This record gives sequence, structure tokens and C-alpha cells, in this order.
Amino acid sequence: MNGTTKVASLPFFTRGLVVKGFGRGSKELGIPTANYPESVVEDLPSDISAGVYYGYGQVNGGSIYKMVMSIGWNPYYNNTKKSMETHLIHEFDSDFYDQELAVVIIGYIRPELNFNSLEELVSAIEGDIEFAKKMLDLPESKSYLHHDFFTSNHSNAINEEEDETRSNL
Ligand SMILES: Cc1cc2nc3c(=O)[nH]c(=O)nc-3n(C[C@H](O)[C@H](O)[C@H](O)COP(=O)(O)O)c2cc1C
Repeated sequence: MNGTTKVASLPFFTRGLVVKGFGRGSKELGIPTANYPESVVEDLPSDISAGVYYGYGQVNGGSIYKMVMSIGWNPYYNNTKKSMETHLIHEFDSDFYDQELAVVIIGYIRPELNFNSLEELVSAIEGDIEFAKKMLDLPESKSYLHHDFFTSNHSNAINEEEDETRSNL
């Protein structure tokens, strides 16, 4: 657990339009997440099981940001539908509904857990974000910033500089 588990299908690259989730991410948790449609969730390889992952994400061919992703049924909320929710580690002014989100899932962090309170869920997610930031500063992670998946057909500005500043805050 905690980042050491090897998953054969990683890194996994995928893209899709952002759809509306339950909307709890921003309101209740203060941690906005972008949801993928069912078609993208169904295309996940079977060894990418429910749990929390880290990687990079890019909206509409723009800057590439560090991200954490929750895959599964959100036991805390008892969802009946499997979801793939991405939190880009950056503060945005607006949401990304109907925009294309491209992600590379690089590593596994932990399984999905149930929590006794919203505070515990939020503090677990904050821990995931800190862990992801560290893993994504490693050279083997950073190499994906220059991958064809993000650079081809898109004019993007990699925001490595800004991201590094933020991680040092
Ligand atoms: C990094 C990360 C880790 C998460 N871990 C869990 C978890 O362990 N258990 C859980 O029930 N939900 C987990 N969630 C999902 C939150 O419950 C979810 O984002 C929230 O329900 C908002 O969903 P909505 O935008 O569809 O409303 C996690 C979300 C993120 C971004």
C-alpha cells in the first residue's frame, strides 16, 4: 500500500469530456473533482482497481498539472455507480464541464476507505495530495510531462515552474 504497489497497466493514459458529478466535491469537501463519463470508466483495465492514484492532468490541451484521482464507489457516500474523479492540484476560477480532460495515471496511493466523518475524509485526501506532490516531483514522474500524449496536437505550456513554486509553499 501507499505508493509501493505495482500495477501492470500503469502508466495509463486516457482522455474524455468532463461530466457533472454529484457536486459534493467543491461544496462539501472544498476539493473540486472532475468526473469522467461512464464510457471512460468502463475502459479502465481491470488491474486498475478501486483506490486513489496520482498522475498528471491537462484540460483542453492547456497546462499540465499534478493530480490525484479517486476510482471507485466512494464508500463514504455509498455510490452505486463506479466513478473516476480527478482533482487537479491547482486553484482554478471555473469548472471544466464539457471540456476535455487528458490524464496519465502513474501510481497507486491507497485503497478506497470509509470514514466516520467528513473531516477524516478531507484529511485523508489532503494526505493523498501531499504524497502525490512528492511522487510527481521525481524525475521518473516528470518525464511524462513531455510525453507525446500531452504534446501532440496541442499547443500547451507546461507549468512545471509554477507547480514547483506551489509545492514549496
Ligand atoms: C484524492 C481523493 C481521494 C478520495 N478518497 C476517498 C475515499 O477513500 N473514500 C471515499 O468514500 N471517497 C473518497 N474520495 C471521493 C470523495 O468522496 C468525492 O470526491 C466526493 O464524493 C465528491 O464527489 P462528487 O464530485 O461526485 O460529488 C476521494 C476523492 C479524492 C479526490
